[in-house]
Amino acid sequence: MPRVLVVYAHPCAESFSAALHETTVQALTKAGWEVDDCDLNAEGFSPVLTAEERRNYHNTEINTAPVQGYVDRLRAADAMVLVFPVWNFGYPAILKGYFDRVFIPGVSFKLENGGVQGCLTNIRKLAAVTTYGATPMRAFLAGDPPRKLIKRAVWGVTKPGKVRYLALHDMNNATADQRGTFLKKVSAEMAVF
Ligand SMILES: Cc1cc2nc3c(=O)[nH]c(=O)nc-3n(C[C@H](O)[C@H](O)[C@H](O)COP(=O)(O)O)c2cc1C
Repeated sequence: MPRVLVVYAHPCAESFSAALHETTVQALTKAGWEVDDCDLNAEGFSPVLTAEERRNYHNTEINTAPVQGYVDRLRAADAMVLVFPVWNFGYPAILKGYFDRVFIPGVSFKLENGGVQGCLTNIRKLAAVTTYGATPMRAFLAGDPPRKLIKRAVWGVTKPGKVRYLALHDMNNATADQRGTFLKKVSAEMAVF
């Protein structure tokens, strides 16, 4: 059975992100995926790269030790779906810390002849499910860093055919109808992921 790692970052069970997370996991499970549901807040993931981790960052003999379980889950995945809200035009800190501490040399990339080579070739499908307070125009004018992080940086170290970036904007004004439509869209996309 193909395995998908869902990485979810929101602290509140009553949030719209929580509804998106639940919909994502349900639709993927129904579609036949074995879902590894990684709820960073619920798991108490520490996003802080320690001094020791920084000093050992390039030592691929030992750099995975503090996050070995997370590295194993990443390496066991055939696909990855990230579910998060946009905060300060980026990832919530806990998700940023996940990338800092788990996407490390020898895991997500290798430095070869001065260049970066992606290592997560096991990940053949990649999607993000996210929400913005901002309108699409405001996000565009801000340079839309989260879209670029997913579609360029994460894409660059994995091997997906295509990247699905599913975003609901203008959450500050979104109606219940718009939220419901987006939930349906996410469910439909995950059903054929
Ligand atoms: C700490 C924080 C920072 C935020 N920063 C941004 C931002 O930079 N750009 C944006 O479009 N929305 C921003 N928002 C709005 C969130 O994206 C919006 O509240 C979220 O998508 C709604 O989802 P939720 O109900 O699941 O929290 C921010 C919200 C919070 C709480």
